[in-house]
Amino acid sequence: MIDRDTIEQIMDAAKIEEVVSDFVALRRRGVNLIGLCPFHNEKTPSFTVSPAKNLYKCFGCGKGGKPVHFIMEHEQLSYPDALRWLAKKYHIEIKERELTNEERQAQSLRESMFVINQYAQQFFVDTLSGTQEGEAIGMSYFRRRGLRDETIKKFGLGYSPEKRDTFASTALKAGYNAELIAKTGVCYSTEDGRLIDRFWGRVTFPVHTISGKVVAFGGRILQSNPKAAKYVNSPESEIYHKSDHLYGLYFSKQAIMQHDCCILVEGYLDVISMHQAGIQNVVASSGTSLTTGQIRLIHRFTSNVTLLYDGDKAGIKASLRGIDMLLEEGMNINVVLLPEGEDPDSYAQSHSSEEVEEYIKRNKVDFIRFKTNLLLDEVGDDPVRRASLIGDVVRSIAVIPNDILRSEYIKKCSEMLNVGEQLLVSETAKLRRKHAEEIYKRKHQGNAPAQQADSTTPPTDDTPIMTAAESTIQQAASNENPLQNKERAIIQFLLRNGDKLVQVPEDKANGTPAFTESVISHLYYTFQGDGIEFTHPLYKRIFDEASLHAADINFSPERHFQSHPDAEISHLAAELCNDRYLLSKLFSENKTEEHNENAVLFEQCTRLAVAYKQNIIDELLKQTMAQLKDPSVAADSARYMEVMQNFKFLKETQQALNTLLTQYGFGSVAFNI
Ligand code: CTP
Ligand code: MN
Repeated sequence: MIDRDTIEQIMDAAKIEEVVSDFVALRRRGVNLIGLCPFHNEKTPSFTVSPAKNLYKCFGCGKGGKPVHFIMEHEQLSYPDALRWLAKKYHIEIKERELTNEERQAQSLRESMFVINQYAQQFFVDTLSGTQEGEAIGMSYFRRRGLRDETIKKFGLGYSPEKRDTFASTALKAGYNAELIAKTGVCYSTEDGRLIDRFWGRVTFPVHTISGKVVAFGGRILQSNPKAAKYVNSPESEIYHKSDHLYGLYFSKQAIMQHDCCILVEGYLDVISMHQAGIQNVVASSGTSLTTGQIRLIHRFTSNVTLLYDGDKAGIKASLRGIDMLLEEGMNINVVLLPEGEDPDSYAQSHSSEEVEEYIKRNKVDFIRFKTNLLLDEVGDDPVRRASLIGDVVRSIAVIPNDILRSEYIKKCSEMLNVGEQLLVSETAKLRRKHAEEIYKRKHQGNAPAQQADSTTPPTDDTPIMTAAESTIQQAASNENPLQNKERAIIQFLLRNGDKLVQVPEDKANGTPAFTESVISHLYYTFQGDGIEFTHPLYKRIFDEASLHAADINFSPERHFQSHPDAEISHLAAELCNDRYLLSKLFSENKTEEHNENAVLFEQCTRLAVAYKQNIIDELLKQTMAQLKDPSVAADSARYMEVMQNFKFLKETQQALNTLLTQYGFGSVAFNI
């Protein structure tokens, strides 16, 4: 476990804008930064980062919190691991103790798989430059491909020896579990139970997650051999879903943001050579056609994609379909064809970065124009084929979510194809309607997962965005009873104001003079006096823990609970500190005239406490009513009298609470949150 001092140190160091911008392209809007939410699919940004509050909040899906919560959610890490992640980023030392055997076993499967991948990665790198075979075979291959040492190092390129169990036996000797090794796919097991290296005799390319962990490998064969596959890749596993990764993104994300453009190429070596040439906003789809997951990955950083292809047109035609998906996701797409016989790798190896950039700039065509030209070339004058070509282009245009862009393209196409603009407009409209209907039907038959339906909805009809208040508080409110709702409000109040002083006025009836105490003490004694305990376990824990610090003048509830070693408490504290909705609803009506903050705090404490007590009384009254109606109680006259007494007492208390509220000039109506 990480001690509290270190947690606070990490919480203080981690800047939300720095942490988030490792993963999401942010741009300034007023005092905040905004971007596309990485946690749900959206085309207009509702993901907000507040450097001042050091919080993030998505107004679309409601997710929000401190930097550590962002990392937990985004990297799917446990709380301690997210803290470690941040500690590493900010060079804060955490003294870790050695894991015990049980702990090692208990480590989640995913984590162990990443550990094995990391071990394998180190092994391949060490083999490449630390062994004779690696130098002679692997390194000399990379040199022949024109890669410099610093490039080889940056991309973590490696070599797996020809002997087919070199890695397997090394890993087993080091104590790694055979079953886990096979699960990650670095090795596979034979029927007679031996482990064989998957990448033997190949150079290795590690595939990184967006945060830089090795999730898979590609291994390239060295001699051309028609019998063996040129590349062997890690299989799908618990940690590796091919369609959710893009080769090179970890190294490119910063440059993609800076250029607000992502260059898409096909192969590992295309990415690497482009980087080496100084063009760093490049990723590869690794030979397959793009998936929606990969497109969204790019879309977090930019909406502009440039496809950089070899000059040969066969490959291009095959990928045309996949590109409609890019359009559908609201991306702006340009295409650049390289001269005959060149691919990005060869072109980058033989030209300077200025020359490559210049070439891209000059030969960039928008995708619709590119597609139209390509098809026009082969259609010629045949009217039937022309009609089908128009249909094809219209289909691409119809999926573009942005209205203005769509009509721009329609205009352009009408010129290129020599077809009336009006016809194209009505054709696209027809397609969009049909598409929308299909989605509607799918949704209402309930046989399509909501997410999927969502991603294909034509986004013209701007999806309404929930407000933050609606998302978190209403979610909570709908899950909680009125009692717990008030408890939540009290905890929120306590987090914000717990360390401030309330001025308790003189109580003539009881003969107590005016005095001041902390909000925490005040609430604590108020509830303790009536024997009230919170019903919600998490709120109760926070309240009880806060009351322990009631006398500590340096205690900051906001800081204390946001840096709490318990992730649930820390997250709740961050959320509640950010949500203005609940309290403002409580305090907006009957604005007090008082200007003295301490006196205002007293009123607010009283309102919260009374509102809470009213709910408790309501609940008790309900129970007592039920008892009175119970025939077994009615039959026992002593018992009946007892319950009756209780009922009377509760009614009087309810009356007294109402009087108390009137005395402070606010009715009970205001508390019906
Ligand atoms: N690929 C693959 N399996 C294959 C062939 C290709 O997984 N048998 C993937 C690899 O990710 C490869 C990409 O498709 O990087 C593009 O293929 P290709 O252009 O043939 O390879 P390059 O990366 O360009 O490699 P090289 O230049 O060394 O031929
Ligand atoms: Mn190539």
